[in-house]
Amino acid sequence: MLRQFPIFRARRLRSRPEFRDLVRETHLDRTDLIYPMFVVPGVDVEHEIPSMPGCFQYSVDRLIPAVQEVADLGIPGIILFGIPRHKDGRGSEAYAPDGIIQQAVLAIKNTVDHLLVITDVCLCEYTDHGHCGVIRDGDVLNDPTLELLAEEALSHIQAGADMVAPSDMMDGRVGAIRQTLDQNGYESIPILAYSAKYASAFYGPFRDAADSAPQFGDRRSYQMDPANADEALHEVALDLQEGADIVMVKPALAYMDIIHRVKTTFNVPVAAYNVSGEYAMIKAAAGNGWIDERRVALEVLYSIKRAGADMILTYFARDVVRWLGEMDA
Ligand code: PBG
Repeated sequence: MLRQFPIFRARRLRSRPEFRDLVRETHLDRTDLIYPMFVVPGVDVEHEIPSMPGCFQYSVDRLIPAVQEVADLGIPGIILFGIPRHKDGRGSEAYAPDGIIQQAVLAIKNTVDHLLVITDVCLCEYTDHGHCGVIRDGDVLNDPTLELLAEEALSHIQAGADMVAPSDMMDGRVGAIRQTLDQNGYESIPILAYSAKYASAFYGPFRDAADSAPQFGDRRSYQMDPANADEALHEVALDLQEGADIVMVKPALAYMDIIHRVKTTFNVPVAAYNVSGEYAMIKAAAGNGWIDERRVALEVLYSIKRAGADMILTYFARDVVRWLGEMDA
């Protein structure tokens, strides 16, 4: 139906904040958010990541109060990334029972209630070559990597994690992890799959935060080509068939079309990762006084939800809760 001026005036319902509240189509809530956090070895470490102002690497003892703060804000979950003490060719600390993530999860679960602890399952932080799998002749081997990823996922869950999030982009990893979890009695643990994960330059600051930059080559032989969209739908379909409970699109900002297509095609829970580079760009511009951090960040997060995401992994999570509170006031 075409409504025409002057019978119809779009500005009527924009004229007062109360009208705007009533007709707003998209809502952003603290319950949409997952906050990424980085844990490092040592004691009394709380190191601000230079390219990600406001985000820190924490040792386990300092992580606990920070996690408690996130839970107190009413944010439903965190996703944990670990930086190990030692790296090797097979990323051994990723699946060591006393690895950095396993220690952190155990400590959080002993002290903090009402918060989902999600763990990123990947090898790049743990391997000395910085790739997401086992290497032979300069190539990342797919099938031998699956066993290690499944072992890593299992050890995170045994430490007490509530959900695993494989981010490695090996073929078949969701199925491998599902099978291992089920065989060990963890059939009720969900998997959040990084399904449409692109080989993106927006991960730059993260690789400083997690010390996970590849030491040779790049990740284009396993992460997706930014030029592709149909392929993302195929990746999502495969992960759903293999048992993914939530599928993720990553990054978010440059991939809104993918978020939208995944949501409308599959009608399953969709997560979007508002990645480190997206955060750093806003922080840098705002730090220069060129943009309004709060308004730009909220605009981006609203647009990610509008595109179809049910939840957003974002370094702005704590700020968002504060900002939304201020807006109510
Ligand atoms: C691990 C992983 C990465 C990110 C999340 N998990 C880095 C990468 O793939 O290189 C990036 C997150 C961000 O940039 O905020 N594979």
